[in-house]
Amino acid sequence: MQPISSFFWRCPSCSLALNYCDGAWTCENKHSFDKAKEGYVNLLLAQHRNSKEPGDSKAMITARRRFLSEGYYQPLMDEIVAALVKHTQAGVQSKPESQENTLSLFDAGCGEGQYLSAIFSGLVNQGITPKVSGVDISKPAVQKAAKLLKQGQFAVASTYSVPLCSATQDAVVQVFAPSSEQEIHRILDDQGLWIKVSPGPEHLFELKQKVYDTPEKHTVDTLVPSGFTLLETKSLTFPMNLSSPEIREALLMMTPFYWQISETKKDALLASLMSLTADFHIQLFSKALPNTGL
Ligand SMILES: C[S@@+](CC[C@H](N)C(=O)[O-])C[C@H]1O[C@@H](n2cnc3c(N)ncnc32)[C@H](O)[C@@H]1O
Ligand SMILES: [Zn+2]
Repeated sequence: MQPISSFFWRCPSCSLALNYCDGAWTCENKHSFDKAKEGYVNLLLAQHRNSKEPGDSKAMITARRRFLSEGYYQPLMDEIVAALVKHTQAGVQSKPESQENTLSLFDAGCGEGQYLSAIFSGLVNQGITPKVSGVDISKPAVQKAAKLLKQGQFAVASTYSVPLCSATQDAVVQVFAPSSEQEIHRILDDQGLWIKVSPGPEHLFELKQKVYDTPEKHTVDTLVPSGFTLLETKSLTFPMNLSSPEIREALLMMTPFYWQISETKKDALLASLMSLTADFHIQLFSKALPNTGL
């Protein structure tokens, strides 16, 4: 089998590039990582694993897939595609028909892959051919993601030690997942775009009101990480009508609340949560530093 030379996983043990050949990713130091039958690779070293089964559990991942596949967060996915088109070379460059507009895009904490899959389709519809990859520390999440988006490269890995070669990505998407800004800075190419999505103040607040006696709203992050320039901050807020009890349960199961509250409280919540607010805080950063004119 031919090695895949245009992709950039790097070895988690020695940081050399990994080459794919005969069912395994191998570096020059002969560290080797088998490709799983679903198509992903496990690049999580024991020292980056904080528990036996790190990250979101299989039940949370299944619930997340059930909820996201209904399209409730589609406005956010559309917003991310629009930002990629607006702020990357692939979006602004007009090329002769014989040449493709490509974009290398990495999803930090990709979960079960619904976002990357929707973003991939959205970019293809805009005439852009994305090369997409994602990592998550949860193995059941990565298994599902690899099955969903066959065109993507997926690895079980920590976003605090990203197994990608430096300066290889045009854009990074990070939705509701932890990561290291130094790692994102390292893997982005010059001028690279970082789309960071976190919960806005109103996000699922109706749910919090029913769970806690004194619910607190999310506070939004306004810091600009070192080495980046803030391009835009956006707030995306919309109501969601959750008429089906099954969808209400899926939403609850993908949050930590489900696993903290009593059965009685759970039943009351499931019976009452018909309408909820989605509120996303979107920050767009460029790796380029501002032009001071000096
Ligand atoms: C709230 S979910 C968001 C998943 C996905 N981005 C989405 O919005 O559907 C957070 C994800 O971060 C993952 N995660 C937590 N810590 C991580 C780490 N250190 N490295 C990689 N993924 C991590 C979890 O397993 C989970 O899939
Ligand atoms: Zn190695």
